[in-house]
Amino acid sequence: MATYAAITGWGKAMPPAVLTNEDLSTFLDTNDEWIISRTGMKERRISHVSGLEMAVAASRRALACAGLEAKDVDLIVYGTCSADEQVPNAASGVQAALGAQRAASMDVNTACTSFLYALTTATAMIRTGVVRNAIVIGVEIISPFMDWDNRNVAVLFGDGCAAVVVQASDKQEGLLGEQLGCIAEARQTLRVRGMGTAYTNHAVTSGDTAWDFDGQEIFKRAVQGMVQASTAVMAKHGVTAADIDLVVPHQANQRIIDAVISRCGLPDEKVMLTVARYGNMSAATVPVALNEALEEGRVKPGALILMPAFGAGLTFCAHLVRWGERVTPLGESDAALPPAKAARLKW
Ligand code: ACO
Repeated sequence: MATYAAITGWGKAMPPAVLTNEDLSTFLDTNDEWIISRTGMKERRISHVSGLEMAVAASRRALACAGLEAKDVDLIVYGTCSADEQVPNAASGVQAALGAQRAASMDVNTACTSFLYALTTATAMIRTGVVRNAIVIGVEIISPFMDWDNRNVAVLFGDGCAAVVVQASDKQEGLLGEQLGCIAEARQTLRVRGMGTAYTNHAVTSGDTAWDFDGQEIFKRAVQGMVQASTAVMAKHGVTAADIDLVVPHQANQRIIDAVISRCGLPDEKVMLTVARYGNMSAATVPVALNEALEEGRVKPGALILMPAFGAGLTFCAHLVRWGERVTPLGESDAALPPAKAARLKW
């Protein structure tokens, strides 16, 4: 039985279309100065293809990076709260597109923390010997269910996707530990009405969404949850802030990140930031930031990485990852997002 589950491959698939603060101010009562000062966001991406198509491209790149083929994959975990369909699950669509015939496939939905909860799931299944090679995906396509008339939420979110490959290893690397939690008493602070069977016969019908959103309450709970999880996971593993080489946090708001970092005693220069360019991509945020940290050479061999996150629920977590020796891809894939006209896989 493998003792550890190393992260050996990574890949992202970002939609090319950019929605800037200036664009938003053409149809909402908002402006660049307010959005930057309150959130740190300048622009975000809007996808022309389904979440599944982004996930397939990111998975192909992650597999090539790990030097694996689709036939090697035992498990696909698809982290999202915006699956294209409820039935069948989204992970099975990735499996079909890749031709990963012997894989098991499952979706995980804990909103913005979905990628990290999915990483926990895959790592646990590897460490208990159920599987050896897994693809873990963080993908979100929020633009189709955004309430574009509501400036409180429309400025905050973007679409995106990234994936990692996790493999059984005898070396002490990969996810060393995590702290998971959920402030369920605050679950009403973020609700997207119109998504799910509860709305079948209600005033807000499926596909016509309205967001219940208490930004200030979410802000407070997010900081509380991420600080609590980060300090708990560091204490559990005998690690101090000085031992952390890089922080790859969920990026819902620059000010939330600043508050978490300072309360954990971590310096700003250790934090990987993407919030200005991509906004909050929910489940895709952490894996995209991790991918870009690797691309920019910010992940050194043997690095200790802290990944705190929160999401609707309000779920929260912090993951402690020991990176392996390899920080460059073994191979590259030419997988790309389909052009707009060719979009949509045959499900
Ligand atoms: N442009 C201009 N003004 C705005 C905008 C906007 N886009 N949005 C709100 N305002 C106004 C408000 O109406 C309010 O006006 P008022 O004082 O006249 O009532 C004013 O700006 C201040 O609003 P606040 O809510 O006090 O602003 P705050 O500083 O709290 O920032 C924000 C709001 C950015 C939403 C912040 O609270 C936040 O980031 N919260 C966390 C939200 C979040 O990350 N959610 C993701 C959940 S995770 C998931 O799983 C999906």
